[in-house]
Parts: sequence; C-alpha cells; structure tokens
Amino acid sequence: MLRIRDLRRTFPGTPPTEVLRGVSFTVQAGEIVGLLGVNGAGKTTLLKILSTLLLPSGGEAEICSHDVAERGGRARRHIGVIFGGDRGLYPRLSALDNIMFFGGLSGPRRHLRPRALEALDQVGLVQRADSRVETFSKGMRQRLHLAIGLLNRPCLLMLDEPTVGLDLEEAQRVRQMVATLAGAGTAVLLTSHYPVDIDRLASRVVLLGAGRVTHDLPIAQFRRQAGFTAEVRLSGSGMAAQDFPSVMRDPTARILQDENGWTITFQVESWDADVLTRLARLVREHPVADIDVSSPGVEAVLRRLASGHA
Ligand SMILES: Nc1ncnc2c1ncn2[C@@H]1O[C@H](COP(=O)(O)OP(=O)(O)OP(=O)(O)O)[C@@H](O)[C@H]1O
Ligand SMILES: [Mg+2]
Repeated sequence: MLRIRDLRRTFPGTPPTEVLRGVSFTVQAGEIVGLLGVNGAGKTTLLKILSTLLLPSGGEAEICSHDVAERGGRARRHIGVIFGGDRGLYPRLSALDNIMFFGGLSGPRRHLRPRALEALDQVGLVQRADSRVETFSKGMRQRLHLAIGLLNRPCLLMLDEPTVGLDLEEAQRVRQMVATLAGAGTAVLLTSHYPVDIDRLASRVVLLGAGRVTHDLPIAQFRRQAGFTAEVRLSGSGMAAQDFPSVMRDPTARILQDENGWTITFQVESWDADVLTRLARLVREHPVADIDVSSPGVEAVLRRLASGHA
C-alpha cells in the first residue's frame, strides 16, 4: 500500500537542513506501522511528503501504486490524513457541513452526502451530524477529523499524534477505530509520543534517527531491544530488607520505601533456573505480599536507546 525508497528531503538555508537522508520502508494492507523518532526526527516532514503537501528532494514514495511526486492528485485520492491537536474545523458549521466542505475539495458533492453520513457513523457521530462543531468536545472534534480522513475510503491512513490532548476514554475510542479500520484492510502509518498508542496498536515499528531508518522491526522484536524480558515488582508492608538487590545480584534493582511499605523492582534478562531460585529465596525469607510481572513496552526500548545502549 505504501512503498518508500531512499526518500530524501532537505530544507534550504545556510547551511541547508538535511531532514530525511534516504528513508526506505513499506506498509502493507491491514498493517499498523508506528513511526517513531525524537522531536525533529522528521516524522511530520515524512507524513507531509506522503500527503503531497511537500515535495521530496529525492527518492520515491508510492501510495497504492501512485507516485506521490509524479501523480500527486491520484495518490491523494487514496489517503486519509489526520493531524492531532485543534485545527481546521469551522466551529459555527455543523459536523455534516464541515465534512461536506472539507470532503468537497476532492469529489463531486452529490456523492458526498451519503458518504459523509457513513463516515460520521463510522466514528460514532452520526447522531450529532447536525450539531455545530462548537458544541463538540476535543475528542469528538478529533473523531470528526477522522471521519473527514475516511471520506475517500483511503487505502492508507496517516495519523500524526492522533490522541494528543484527548482524555483516556476518547484516546481509547480513537485507538479502537484505528484498529477496526486496519482490521478491515486499511494500511496505517501512525506517529505518537505516547508509547501506549504504539504498544496497543502497532504491529511494526519504524524508528527514524539522523534522517534514516535505524530500526524496522515487528513490535515483539522491537520490544526485545529493551534488553530485558520482564520487570518484576515485589511489595510488602513494613520496612524493606536492604539485602534485596544483592540477593537478586541485579544493578537495576531499586527499593522504594514509604509509610505504606516497600516496593522493589528489578529487571529479568531471561527466565532461567537461577533467577527463579533467587526469587523463591526472596519470597521465602521476606514478607512479600504482592508480585507483579510486566513485559517491557515501547517506552523501555526508547529509554534504553536514548541512554546510548543497544
Ligand atoms: N519548512 C521547514 N523549513 C525548514 N526546516 C524545517 C521545515 N519543516 C521542518 N523543518 C525542520 O525539519 C526537522 C524535522 O521536523 P519534523 O516536524 O518533521 O519533526 P518531527 O519528527 O515531526 O518532530 P516532532 O516529534 O517534534 O513532531 C526539524 O529540525 C525542523 O526544524
Ligand atoms: Mg511532528
């Protein structure tokens, strides 16, 4: 659905800013790819090129077999683009009028009304089709953006920080919709600074660094870059025994003590017999009330990479 080869973009200036220095990756139908990278890594620049808002300085990008630079008009008909944050809606117009207006930019109007109602239905806003957008919450506005993006039944959906500023419930609703669309075969390219978006949605991660793709991995493999298999959290009441970390022989072990009791966390590289034996000894010799085991997420990987490891 999306094929990018050696894509480059330099912004003029003295000296010029080379933002993308040869980026290549693909996104298949039904796949959700999380595009990651620190602030300024070039994620938005890449999404702008793919949405034909910006021309590349070199390389190629094809959307559903249409080259974005040579056949921008055609490529545009196959994409939906949703940028996060508040912008670009007419507050005094109804949801339906907004979607007709923005959708009217790319097709004959008479076909748009039923399609507009369908898109509003897809995002759970069809009951509010005639309400003015000024009466909408942030989450509802973001869903309206999503509906506008869905108007052309895109084969590729691009989302730039789609959950920014949304409360937990609305963010979850947006994620659910994205998952449903991918389930129906839409290819999705998603950026977010919230690891939870990537952890819940992405099947693959593409990480940009210094203008290039530094990692392109299935999500499970990406999580393994965290360098540990699990984080274990033990807790109990009273005072912590100070010998915990030494028993676990683990430099990552941390003890937290407060008036309610203690918590110790440590990372397990792999679940071998030795780790289990030491863990059993801890539980036998100390009053452990609770054990919690969690797998590393995208955040743990990004933290490790930022610290210069791996
Ligand atoms: N029109 C422009 N002219 C000059 N430089 C630009 C322009 N647009 C972006 N840049 C530069 O390109 C770099 C990449 O910006 P971009 O917005 O693509 O990053 P990003 O990965 O989306 O970052 P963020 O996570 O903060 O959204 C930045 O250094 C930015 O200053
Ligand atoms: Mg950005």
